[in-house]
Amino acid sequence: RDELMFSYKGIPYPTSFCSPEAFKALESFEARSDDVILAGYPKSGTNWLSQILTDLIAISQKKTLGEERSGNAEEPEEFPYLEVGDPEKYERMIKLPSPRFMVTHLRPENLPTSIFKNKVKILLLIRNPKDLATSFYHFSNGLAALPSYETWDDFFTDFVSKKIAWGCYFEYLSEWNKYVDKENIMTVTYEELKENRALGVKNIAAFFGIPLTEKELQLVVERSSFQSMKKNSEKTHGAFGNIFFRKGAVSDWKNLFSEDQNEKMDKMFEECLAGTKLGKKLKYDVYCK
Ligand code: A3P
Repeated sequence: RDELMFSYKGIPYPTSFCSPEAFKALESFEARSDDVILAGYPKSGTNWLSQILTDLIAISQKKTLGEERSGNAEEPEEFPYLEVGDPEKYERMIKLPSPRFMVTHLRPENLPTSIFKNKVKILLLIRNPKDLATSFYHFSNGLAALPSYETWDDFFTDFVSKKIAWGCYFEYLSEWNKYVDKENIMTVTYEELKENRALGVKNIAAFFGIPLTEKELQLVVERSSFQSMKKNSEKTHGAFGNIFFRKGAVSDWKNLFSEDQNEKMDKMFEECLAGTKLGKKLKYDVYCK
C-alpha cells in the first residue's frame, strides 16, 4: 500500500499516475482563457462528462474550421487529466491548439493560479457521496494502481479517514464551494444528468457558448448513454476500459452501507456541507436517505 501512494501537500495520490515533480511543474502551467476544464472528484462521472465535452468541442470545431480536428504527429494526444503524466507534459501542452480540453480531480487551491487569473471556464461535476464511495470501492478493487480492499468496511474506514487517493471528498467539496459563485464556473450533478441528459447537455453547451442543432444535441445525448459508452469502452479506454463503466446507477449505495455507516456519513455531511451551496445542490435528502 505504501508503495502505491504518496502524499503531496497532505493529500494522498497514486504513484502510478502522479509525482511531486509533475505537481511542481503544474504550478507554473499557463492556462488559456479558451481552455475547457472539467473538474470532478474521482468516480463522480468524469469519463461520462469527458465524452460529452469532447463531442461538444468537436461539433464546435467542425463549424469553425469546416472540418473535424484530427490527431496528427504535430498535435500529439495528451492524457486529458491535468495532474496525471510526466513533468514535461506541460511543455508539450503549450504546442496544442485551442481549445485544449483538460480534466482534473484536484481541489482549486492545488490548481495552477493561471486558471483563475485567466477566467478559464470550468465545469464542476459533483455526485452524491454515498454512491461515489460505492463506485470508488469497486474501482479500487478493479485497478491495480490503487490499493485494494478485502471488505467494504475497510474501504469505508479509509474513505472517511481521508486516506484514499485525491483525499477527503467532503473537504474537496468544501474547497470548491468557495468558488461556485464565480461566473466562469458551472456546477452539474451526476444525478441531474441521469434524470435528464438532454437538458444537461443543452445547458453545458450554452455555458461554453457552443450552439447546437436539435440533431447535434440528439447525437451527443445518444453517444453519452451508459450503454453506448460501455459498449465502446474497449475502443475508447483500452482492453480493460469497462471498469470505468460499472453500473451507472443512482442509489447503488443501498447495497453496501450499514446503519452505522449511514449515520457516520450523514453526520459528516451535516458538519461539512449541509449549509453550503454545493451541499444543497447535491440534494442529499433525496439521494442519500
Ligand atoms: P459506478 O461505479 O457507480 O457505475 P469516473 O468516470 O469519474 O471514474 O466515474 C465513474 C462512474 O461514472 C461509474 O459509476 C460509471 O459507471 C459512471 N458512468 C460512466 N459513464 C456513465 C454514463 N454514460 N452514464 C451514467 N454513469 C456513467
